[in-house]
Amino acid sequence: MKEFPKKFWWGAATSGPQSEGRFHKKHANVFDYHYEIEPEKFYDQVGPDTASNFYNDYQNDLSLMKKVGMNSLRTSIQWSRLIDDLETNTVNSDAVDFYNRVIDTIIEQGMVPVINLHHFDLPVELYHKYGGWESRHVVDLFVGFAQKCFELFGDRVKFWTTHNEPMVVVEGEYLFQFHYPNLVDGKKAVQVAYHLNLASAKAVQAFRAMGMSEQGNQIGIVLNLTPTYSASDTEGDLEAARIAELWNNKMFLEPAIWGHFPEELEKLLIKDGVIWQTEAEDSTIIAENTIDFLGVNFYHPNRVKAPDVAPNSVGSWMPDRYYDNFDMPGRRVNLDRGWEIYPEAMYDIAINIKDNYKNIPWYVSENGMGVSNEDRFIGVNGVIEDDYRIDFVKEHLEWLHKGIEAGSNCFGYHMWTPIDCWSWLNAYKNRYGFISNNIHTQVKTIKKSGYWFRTVSENNGF
Ligand code: BG6
Repeated sequence: MKEFPKKFWWGAATSGPQSEGRFHKKHANVFDYHYEIEPEKFYDQVGPDTASNFYNDYQNDLSLMKKVGMNSLRTSIQWSRLIDDLETNTVNSDAVDFYNRVIDTIIEQGMVPVINLHHFDLPVELYHKYGGWESRHVVDLFVGFAQKCFELFGDRVKFWTTHNEPMVVVEGEYLFQFHYPNLVDGKKAVQVAYHLNLASAKAVQAFRAMGMSEQGNQIGIVLNLTPTYSASDTEGDLEAARIAELWNNKMFLEPAIWGHFPEELEKLLIKDGVIWQTEAEDSTIIAENTIDFLGVNFYHPNRVKAPDVAPNSVGSWMPDRYYDNFDMPGRRVNLDRGWEIYPEAMYDIAINIKDNYKNIPWYVSENGMGVSNEDRFIGVNGVIEDDYRIDFVKEHLEWLHKGIEAGSNCFGYHMWTPIDCWSWLNAYKNRYGFISNNIHTQVKTIKKSGYWFRTVSENNGF
C-alpha cells in the first residue's frame, strides 16, 4: 500500500474557457475570437461555444466529481466573463452570481476550490488594442481583475493561482504558431515572458496588500515543469539541455520562487540583443512577491540534443537555436496525443523542488492522458474501460510517492481533467476525463478510471 500524506488533495483540474461554454459572456477571449475567424483550424470545427456546458450543468458536473472521490478542484475565472468594462474593472453581475454559485457548490460538495486567474484566455480586445501581454498596461489591467476576484471570492476561496502554464502563451502566441495571433517573433516572446512574470508578482503583491494572507489564503502559480533530459553526456548535448531548462522552466520558476531571473538567461538574452525592457521598480516587486505554493503540470519529458545548425546562423532569434528536440529511440508514447510517457520524471520533479526550490509546498496540478475515440473501450455495462489511464496514473503516483518519501513537500495530485473538456485546437479529439462527455447530448458518464480514483481517494493511496 502506498499511503500519501494526511489531507492529500485528490482531485482534478479544468479551466473556465474549456468547460463553461461561451453562454452570456460579454467579451471574447483569444480562443473565442480565433474560432470565429478560423473555425477550420479546430479539430472537427468544434469551438468553445458549448464546451462541456459547465455554465448550465455545473451542479450535476460537481456532483459527479464528488462521486469520483475528488476532494479538491481547480478551475479558472474567465476575465472575459467577470469584467464588463476592461479598463475600469466594473464587474458583470450575472458572472459574479455564476461564480458565487459555482464556488459555493464546490464547497458544499466537500471539495476545496482552487481558483486560477489566467488560463491562456486573454480578452481579445486587449490584444487588438494594446498587443496583449506585450503591454505593461495589460499587466496592470490583469492586476485589477485579480483584485476584483480576491475581493469577491476571497472569503471562501483559500487557494489562488495567477497563471496556468504562462510559457504556453509565449510559445503558442509568439514562437510556434499554435495559439492566436500565431506570431513568430522572438523579441516579443521575451517581453511577453517578462510581463507575465511581472503580472504574477504584481497580483501576489495585491493579494497580500488586501490582507488575504492574514485570512489564511495562499497564492501560487501553475507551471508546466517539463524536465529536460539531454540525449547524451556529450558537452554539446548537456549545454543544449541546460539552455532548454533555462528557457522552458527557470524563466518562470526562478522569479516565482527565488524572486529573480536566472543570471545566465539574462546574460544570454543580452548577448543576443533580445533582452526585455524593464522599469526601475520591477526587480523589487518581483523579489518581494514570491509565491506561497507551486502547482506543477506534467505530461511528458523534454529530450534535447545539440542543435544541428550553429546557434549563430543567420536568421531571426528563436530560443530553440540552442537545442533540437531529440526523439529517443524506443521511447514509450501515447500515440493519440504524440507525447512520451515517462513517469520517472515525477520523481525528478519532486527532488528538483526539494533540493533547488526551498522545498516549497507544491502539488501536481495537472497530469493525464488524452486518448481519442474512447468509445472503442466501452464495456458491456456501458462504461468506458480506460485501464490505460489507470495504469498511467498509478505509475505516476508511484514515482511521486518515492519523491515524497525522499522528503519532497508535495500535498496533492490533480488529474487533467474531471470531465472531458474542450482542448484548444484539438477541441474534443483527445479525451482526458474521469468522466466522459457526449458532446452532442451533453450526457456525462463516469469511466472505469473514475471509480478507481474514488477508491484511491478513500484509501489515501493504493
Ligand atoms: C495543459 C493545459 O497544457 O494541458 C490544458 O493547462 C490542456 O489547458 C492540457 O488542455 C492538455 O493538453 P491538450 O493540448 O491535449 O489539450
